[in-house]
Amino acid sequence: MSQAETNPPVRHERLTCLYEEFHRRFGDAPAADFPIRAVRAPGRVNLIGEHTDYNGGFVLPAAIDREVIMVGRRRPDHEVRLYSLDYQEEAAGDVRTPDRTAHPTWSRYVHGVVWALQQRGFKPGGFEAVLTGNVPQGAGLSSSAALEVATAMLLQTLFDLPLSGPEMAALCQEAENRFVGVNCGIMDQFISRMGRQGTALLLDCRSLEYRWVPLPDERVRIVIANTAVVRGLVASAYNVRRAECEEGVRLIRQWEPTVSQLRDVTPEMLEKYASHLPEPVRRRVTHVVAENQRVLETVAALEEGDWQRCGELLVASHASLRDLYEVSSPALDLMVELALSVPGVLGSRMTGAGFGGCTVSLVREEAVEQFLATVIPEYRRRATWQLAGEPEAYVCRAADGATVIS
Ligand code: GLA
Repeated sequence: MSQAETNPPVRHERLTCLYEEFHRRFGDAPAADFPIRAVRAPGRVNLIGEHTDYNGGFVLPAAIDREVIMVGRRRPDHEVRLYSLDYQEEAAGDVRTPDRTAHPTWSRYVHGVVWALQQRGFKPGGFEAVLTGNVPQGAGLSSSAALEVATAMLLQTLFDLPLSGPEMAALCQEAENRFVGVNCGIMDQFISRMGRQGTALLLDCRSLEYRWVPLPDERVRIVIANTAVVRGLVASAYNVRRAECEEGVRLIRQWEPTVSQLRDVTPEMLEKYASHLPEPVRRRVTHVVAENQRVLETVAALEEGDWQRCGELLVASHASLRDLYEVSSPALDLMVELALSVPGVLGSRMTGAGFGGCTVSLVREEAVEQFLATVIPEYRRRATWQLAGEPEAYVCRAADGATVIS
């Protein structure tokens, strides 16, 4: 995500490179009779509803204009042949035996999706594909979900698999949970598959009911800022938070037997029982209960075109993630503070799992230039921690979820 790339390279240029590479590598393969297909799946930014998905709650993410693109074709045998344009690496395997320890590591996500399809009784055959992606990695913008969903989309297209969008999202989550071994919720895969241009998506992570919420107009822009801090702690802390939430459910159930997830805890219940909960469980539960309310309030505010209120809710969400859920970091806090110091910035918060990665800000159009000109240089100047790359900001557009490219 370099500054020069504020406008992501046009898709068709990347697609042309992929086709050229595909023909160079697989042009004369025995599969030459099968049609070649291209698919894409985006990364995401979560506007609000953080650490609520695995508690059965609400989230409001948008798909972004950064994506994984794959060009592929069936093979007449069981081989899987992959090539990553970005890493300039190939990977090979057998579709009948998905390999958890495959190298290079990016190919494990592809194997994971094959595995998850097989768990559901699908039997994809061999295939060959080349891929490229411009979702920043390790930045909390769901580059792995984009790769999983792109893979599922490609296999669905190549092998005519009857899979609805939500089913595909669930299957990709399963690949990540049970094959790759990362215990994430459903949000990232769902939005990567189901996003729609110009909208955010309100998802009930328990029922998987969803609806698109139009982002009212272009006078307010979504700006993503990358702290360039590697999210070292994220995996272990994430699992600890999940366990603390489960502990909260276990305790509250003693008094409220209908509670099966934190989603079921109402603000009234929390008020009644908070003082009976040990720390840090009380803080975690308090965050989740209020964050779910904030998601619904943000949707109402968006529908009224009340950006000011949306901004306030983002700010409240960040404070809660920092003080109650304790998944922010000095880098994220600084980025948020700097963003909020720019006149015309309505709200700003960390987005994704936390501990590093990106912030999301709602910025009035006339303030975008100043945001880009001041926030990142000032962040660089004041960062006393080690940076793993270039901190940068970009204005994102809410994009469509995964599609077959015709
Ligand atoms: C990560 C996970 C998501 C979600 C967020 C926190 O992005 O992959 O499922 O839990 O963290 O909201």
